[in-house]
Amino acid sequence: MFGAEGDGDQKPNPHLGEPVTMDGKEIPAIPMESNPRQLKTSDACMGCHDQRNNPHGVPLCQTGNEYSVSHSKVNCLSCHMPVNDGIADHSMGGGHDMAMLQRSVVFDLSTEIIGDKVRASVYMKNQQPHSLPTGAPFRNIHMRLAAYNKDGELVWQSAKGHPAKSDPQAYLVYALADDEGKPASPPNATKLGKDTRLKPYEERTLVYDIPAADVALVRGELYYSLLWPGLVKKFKHLPEDLTSAKLIASAESSL
Ligand code: HEC
Ligand code: HEC
Repeated sequence: MFGAEGDGDQKPNPHLGEPVTMDGKEIPAIPMESNPRQLKTSDACMGCHDQRNNPHGVPLCQTGNEYSVSHSKVNCLSCHMPVNDGIADHSMGGGHDMAMLQRSVVFDLSTEIIGDKVRASVYMKNQQPHSLPTGAPFRNIHMRLAAYNKDGELVWQSAKGHPAKSDPQAYLVYALADDEGKPASPPNATKLGKDTRLKPYEERTLVYDIPAADVALVRGELYYSLLWPGLVKKFKHLPEDLTSAKLIASAESSL
């Protein structure tokens, strides 16, 4: 920590107007000026949340770039540091904050009967000026759809368990790959994989044709996960709160 010269263990502070000596070296005075713009705009965040590359030049976190292409006029602070009771909230709610996650997306479901099928259209809208989900590439969202008969029994589902493989359109993720195109971890990735996340403000509709038989109700559920399914298996020692998929939105349609 910087401190005033001679202040116990603390290092000398070069920001007080005078040069200081540290470890035998003279450090010139580094004057500090207040910046009336930076802390009121997204600039306060961009220094760290713009594109971050790994050693192979593969961008890992891209929130800032996503935001730039959205041409949004809403700044980061209005969502991530809202003023509440006269105080700017510094908790930086994101992927760990249920209220933020629930507000992040519009999720709706409609059904129509077409011949011997029930067509279910699942609507999603990203409310953010950055991708959904954004931040670390581990973050992911998946959607599951299920159909029930009039007795409430499950008669059809879009995927058993996580849809990463069986229903890829329902998996929103920013994939990283190695030279052979296989999934890679952030430090080892040499190129980008597919980016299936919702772009800033994107609206997307996923369509499913369900064998109608005796469908009475269709229910869609949207889950947010902090970690990829593979990492969840690896990190079994982490608290359940960090590894479990969180239900952030649901919608139903009766026939
Ligand atoms: C000095 C660098 C730095 C600055 C400046 C900064 N951040 Fe971060 N922020 C980080 C790091 C590092 C993390 C943790 C890694 C991650 O989740 O991407 C993080 C995490 C977050 C998270 C995720 C929290 C969670 O639940 O995991 C949010 C949201 C966030 N920052 C928003 C902001 C906003 C908004 C600003 C501007 C007001 C900002 N940050 C400024 C470095 C910074
Ligand atoms: C309209 C509200 C809104 C605005 C504006 C906004 N965010 Fe977010 N942000 C969210 C929500 C909701 C989430 C959680 C869902 C997601 O990942 O998109 C989030 C997630 C994040 C995360 C990842 C959190 C995690 O746990 O990994 C980061 C980092 C972040 N935002 C940074 C920013 C930065 C930087 C800006 C400005 C350039 C910004 N956000 C603007 C609402 C917003």
